[in-house]
Amino acid sequence: MCGIVGYTGGRQAAPLLLDGLKRLEYRGYDSAGLALVADGRIEVHKAAGKIDKLEKDLGTTLPAGRTGIAHTRWATHGAPNTVNAHPHTDCGGTLALAHNGIIENAGVLRTALTKRGHTFRSETDTEVLTHLIEELHLKGRSLVEAVAGGLAQVEGTYGIAVVSTREPDTIVAARLGSPLLVAIGNRENFVASDASAVLAHTRSVVYLDDGEIAVVRPDEYHILDLGAVEKEKAVTHLDWDLATIERGGFAHFMLKEIMEQAESIRNTLRGRLLEEEGTAKLGGLNLADEALLQVDRIVITACGTSWHAGLIGEYMMEELARIPTEVEYASEFRYRNPIVDDRTLVIGISQSGETADTLAALREAKRRGARTLGLVNVVGSTIAREVEGGIYLHAGPEIGVASTKAFTSQIAALALLTLKIGRLRALSILQGREVVRALARLPDLVQRVLDKAPEVEGLAERLLRATNVLYLGRGYNFPVALEGALKLKEISYIHAEGYPAAEMKHGPIALIDDLMPVLFVAPKDAVYQKIVSNVEEVKARGGRVIAVVTEGDTGLAALADQRIEVPETLDLLTPILTVLPLQLLAYYIAVRRGCNVDQPRNLAKSVTVE
Ligand code: AGP
Repeated sequence: MCGIVGYTGGRQAAPLLLDGLKRLEYRGYDSAGLALVADGRIEVHKAAGKIDKLEKDLGTTLPAGRTGIAHTRWATHGAPNTVNAHPHTDCGGTLALAHNGIIENAGVLRTALTKRGHTFRSETDTEVLTHLIEELHLKGRSLVEAVAGGLAQVEGTYGIAVVSTREPDTIVAARLGSPLLVAIGNRENFVASDASAVLAHTRSVVYLDDGEIAVVRPDEYHILDLGAVEKEKAVTHLDWDLATIERGGFAHFMLKEIMEQAESIRNTLRGRLLEEEGTAKLGGLNLADEALLQVDRIVITACGTSWHAGLIGEYMMEELARIPTEVEYASEFRYRNPIVDDRTLVIGISQSGETADTLAALREAKRRGARTLGLVNVVGSTIAREVEGGIYLHAGPEIGVASTKAFTSQIAALALLTLKIGRLRALSILQGREVVRALARLPDLVQRVLDKAPEVEGLAERLLRATNVLYLGRGYNFPVALEGALKLKEISYIHAEGYPAAEMKHGPIALIDDLMPVLFVAPKDAVYQKIVSNVEEVKARGGRVIAVVTEGDTGLAALADQRIEVPETLDLLTPILTVLPLQLLAYYIAVRRGCNVDQPRNLAKSVTVE
């Protein structure tokens, strides 16, 4: 979704806003803009496309002003062009507003405002808010009163920042559904969609909750509810530093994040493995063992890559914890009439912790009395703050739009949760210890696979001109086939499908010919023999087979045209190893095809609109 940053203080705002925008660019990159308040007027500069286009247009002499807001856009309403870029101004140019979210009743409001003489310049839903606030501000309401009044008339979701010539050092920000924080500096303050935009200046932030509005000035900030009642809010001190959100010498964030997975998984496991008891210690669950024993059903809900991790969690929970588990697309779960009750544990998986559909699915589950947990990477995110308890992944910031290290840390966290719940139910101490030991060995095994990156790079050459690729897997590695296909689709724009290998006979086998590369995820696990037959079926039709196999597997090695070997581990943990070559393959193919792997077209890192 979009990224917003605002600054008010003693320094010139423009360079700070541009730097903040660059750190938010992974949230959306269809257009960018900024608005600065100086000498009783607001100066707005906008450009279609990436932030460097805006920078180029601005040139070396940046516009003056010590208070300003900026925005990078992921278009929902109105084409990605300069006119629709944010910030939007009112008729008189006395107000400027940047918005992240969707105003659902914009159509009706636009008609009414036009009838009342307002002139609209853009096709966006956002602009109606600017004119609503203008009407109240012109009637003498303070900026915060006018913003609150304007928001009371809209339906939908928003994270907004507003500036006005009448209160030149003030930024008013508000949130309902889209993330927003206030960052506290020394005689200067910021507002931002997420912490990455302000980490260069401060680590002290206040997260806004839904229905809150902030008034921010250089020397003070106030958090109010929409009824203008002041609220006391905790200040969170972030432990991430700037280096963790920089590329660290890698060509792309995606490659950096792929190559740091041994460390990110080590961080996910740190202090959580109890070998003696054969279980996991999860301090943030906030659910006592008695409560976990009351649970008779688990529903995992998520989107995209997180949904794939959820599928693996389902296999783990049913196999080791022997508890009925289902996985639901959050966007479907929230609108169908799901059967959940106080004995249902609903687990929301989300790297960003801000995905609108997953958040809404969790709220729906809570409304129906279910217990809720979150597996989240971003500390302080909305999902993390709204669920009863959860597991932070501690994978570090994930900037590349294509999720990689979060996926493997999600699987590791699900294995920890399975251990915890399993040892309360069906898992023996010996079985538990075996899983704990296998988890402890994982980071080294992961590094062994990552060291094979040059091999995968060579393989990428052969797939550059593919127009379709089929990914097949079974058991724990069926979701890995789905994930491999998603990675290739989202960053190289090659059409790819993931499928349970046995399902192939029921249709997709018709696609097999010597032009269709078929990638098998086939480690030596409980269903190995079954997948060998599937490979033979494809070979029998002249298909080109690439296989991810277990080191030393000579059988499949002979059958496959190309193969990538991964070390042996327990079946439930094989996805953490088998997905790595698929992440690298998608990366190298996309780079070779000249695609922007960190910011693929039409995508955004966290989708905060439904
Ligand atoms: C994955 O590479 C994509 N970026 C996307 O599918 C993502 O997994 C999905 O939007 C869910 O995001 P979340 O984990 O932050 O909720």
